[in-house]
Amino acid sequence: MKRAFVVGHPIAHSRSPLIHNHWLGVHGIAGSYERLDVAPDAFADFVRALPGSGYAGGNVTIPHKEAAFRLADVLTPRAERIGAVNTLVVGPDGRVLGDNTDAPGFIAHLDQSLGADWPERTGGSALVLGAGGAARAVVVGLAERGLGRILIANRTPERAAALVALAPGVARAVAWDALPDLLPGTGLLVNTTSLGMAGHPPLALDLGPLPGRAAVADIVYAPLETPLLAAARARGLAAVDGLGMLLHQAVPGFAAWFGLRPAVTEDLRARIVADLRP
Ligand code: ATR
Repeated sequence: MKRAFVVGHPIAHSRSPLIHNHWLGVHGIAGSYERLDVAPDAFADFVRALPGSGYAGGNVTIPHKEAAFRLADVLTPRAERIGAVNTLVVGPDGRVLGDNTDAPGFIAHLDQSLGADWPERTGGSALVLGAGGAARAVVVGLAERGLGRILIANRTPERAAALVALAPGVARAVAWDALPDLLPGTGLLVNTTSLGMAGHPPLALDLGPLPGRAAVADIVYAPLETPLLAAARARGLAAVDGLGMLLHQAVPGFAAWFGLRPAVTEDLRARIVADLRP
């Protein structure tokens, strides 16, 4: 029986077990996916003990993504670029591989929600709000998808400037105060800040100046319909919620641990949506 995990601290809130156990059930795979609470001071020992532990690998969440990056024996080029690991795979040689599936997860979700021709249809620049770990994955994903112009705006400008190196020649840092002026040239607006998350203030940005062909994506998924997405829909713009990224980032891990590439279906989405309801 194959076993995998999600490790974090705290970990009770994680929806990953629901996602992976759904796929295990759908495909009749005799496996398990467990929630593991490991404190930061015990995480290095946890990773070192993985080979021979019986686990095929697992997901890594807050606050361990950067530590996992440092502790993995081998990194995928994408994890190397992003500087964080959310997926660990124990190789046949006992080495621990670190990957980051947030970037392709975000892109797979955009492709599935908007149709694969969205870069041409939306036109303009991608404008990324925020400069934390989620923004790093989004910028790398957009650059890998071939976008020619990625603007990054963050309340603390130095953090936005630091992200430009992730997509040299393509990304540029812009001032947070300049957002209203940048909207007319924006094809895709992505919120990676905590603004709009349950318990946080909404993002105060008038979407009026966005072109009619623009799309708006939020990586926040609690609530599913953030004030930003509601405003985008009210304007008739394509709105992409954050749940899809969570679902799609899980696919490569499941494939590596359990040997089958699962689909992100409406059925799965409905299960997680039901669980997210307060
Ligand atoms: P994560 O790694 O999950 O993306 P993070 O590193 O805490 O999380 O980043 C949160 C993002 O939300 C940051 O870009 C943060 O801006 P700062 O870098 O200036 O802190 C942004 N953020 C949080 N509260 C904000 C607010 N009230 N106004 C604007 N941006 C905010």
